[in-house]
Amino acid sequence: MKVCVIGTGYVGLVSGVCLAEIGHDVICVDKDEAKISLLKEGKIPIYEEGLEELVKNNYESKKLVFDSNTSYGIRESDIVFICVGTPPLPSGKPNLAAIDDVARMIGKSLNGYKIILNKSTVPIGSAKRIRKIIKENQDRGNGNYEFDIVSNPEFLKEGEAVKDAFFPERIVIGSNSEKAINIMKKLYEPIIKQDFNYAKKNTNKKQKVPILITDSTSSELIKYASNAFLATKISFVNEIANICERIGANILDVTYGMGLDKRIGSRFMKAGIGWGGSCFPKDVRALSYTAEEYGSQASILNAVIQVNNQQRFKVVQKAMDLLGIIDDKVIGVLGLAFKPNTDDTREAPSITVVNKFLELGAEVRVYDPIVKDYPDNLDKGAIFAKSSYEALKGANLMVLVTECGEFLDLDFERIKKLLTDPNIIDGRNFLDKKKLQDIGFKYVGIGN
Ligand code: UGA
Repeated sequence: MKVCVIGTGYVGLVSGVCLAEIGHDVICVDKDEAKISLLKEGKIPIYEEGLEELVKNNYESKKLVFDSNTSYGIRESDIVFICVGTPPLPSGKPNLAAIDDVARMIGKSLNGYKIILNKSTVPIGSAKRIRKIIKENQDRGNGNYEFDIVSNPEFLKEGEAVKDAFFPERIVIGSNSEKAINIMKKLYEPIIKQDFNYAKKNTNKKQKVPILITDSTSSELIKYASNAFLATKISFVNEIANICERIGANILDVTYGMGLDKRIGSRFMKAGIGWGGSCFPKDVRALSYTAEEYGSQASILNAVIQVNNQQRFKVVQKAMDLLGIIDDKVIGVLGLAFKPNTDDTREAPSITVVNKFLELGAEVRVYDPIVKDYPDNLDKGAIFAKSSYEALKGANLMVLVTECGEFLDLDFERIKKLLTDPNIIDGRNFLDKKKLQDIGFKYVGIGN
């Protein structure tokens, strides 16, 4: 099938390359010409494991092409994926300007029956809104071609997006059109049956992927409710971690014990400095906003946000407990991205923590294995180190805020000699507490 993917952010790029790899002809379009030029040169604007090679291979075999002409991409395709951003407005309501622009462009460019597929996380009811905008623009433009809107939310985790695209736990299709649903089943058939080369090479488990067909509103809500539930799990565990600290229990044993109950499960049960990124904060706020807009109470969602906002400051409180006055102290911070294996620092708890240390007058040195550019949301003044050791030399305190794999292999005997005071705050309960205490560190975890 011929597919146009609008938007080459991490959702668009990963979805596009996945569709090309399973055999479709894909045009990835973006109005940002500089980005398209880079992609044509094989340069990927984001870090995502395995993505670069897949893009290169599919670009070379011409299954994947890049273009900055959105209208051309739409006209050439049977299915149009909308993968543009919906950043939050200050009220929590998602900004739909990019989606509306794309819908207008689709209306003007339709030249035959097409499926318009929404992958972006959009407010409940957006399928109807997009239909209306397309219709309005079509009426003013070039005739009245038939089209169907499908909601097909993405469940891609940054850092594991390629894997999640090829081996999803479910595919959700929201539509009331039999015709569109049948085309969607055909589009995803190789994924559903796990019958494509990449799967054959990369997994020996061949399990059929469940596909859920529902109406577009329920499909849109499945996306929000899934992210909100995962965020709730984490905030809940963080609240329990705080109780652990008061009563002298160990959160690692508590969550392990809870997770053995299959109804609870062991995933997304890691206590720490809380959740961040471009999805959870935006989506939980948006769902709370929608609930209130429609006259429903969002008490749990609001509490989940509140717990998360407070959680990041626990690390600052712990630093104060260890160091007293923070002013003039040197703090080495390991990790900056909102989670490992990504360079994304959007709404990262680490940024709040570093900014607070800076505000309190500390000299802060940061090191992250992947983040190389000074993030826009980081207050000026943090010093970028080239290694963990450089960040920690002469510091009064080491704070781990992102659980990057390489921090497990650090030489802690060497770090003890580098630090002025042997203090470690492990904001992710990632390091071996006993080993560090045996070396002579004062180790402080979260609920641990
Ligand atoms: C999240 C969802 O997991 C994806 O399913 C979804 O498709 C995506 O949002 C999206 O809406 O696009 P992502 O934001 O990439 O994916 O990151 P997660 O791996 O879910 O982590 C989110 C945050 O929770 C991170 O800050 C992470 O450190 C934190 N976290 C996660 C914890 O604090 N504890 C845990 O046990 C797990």
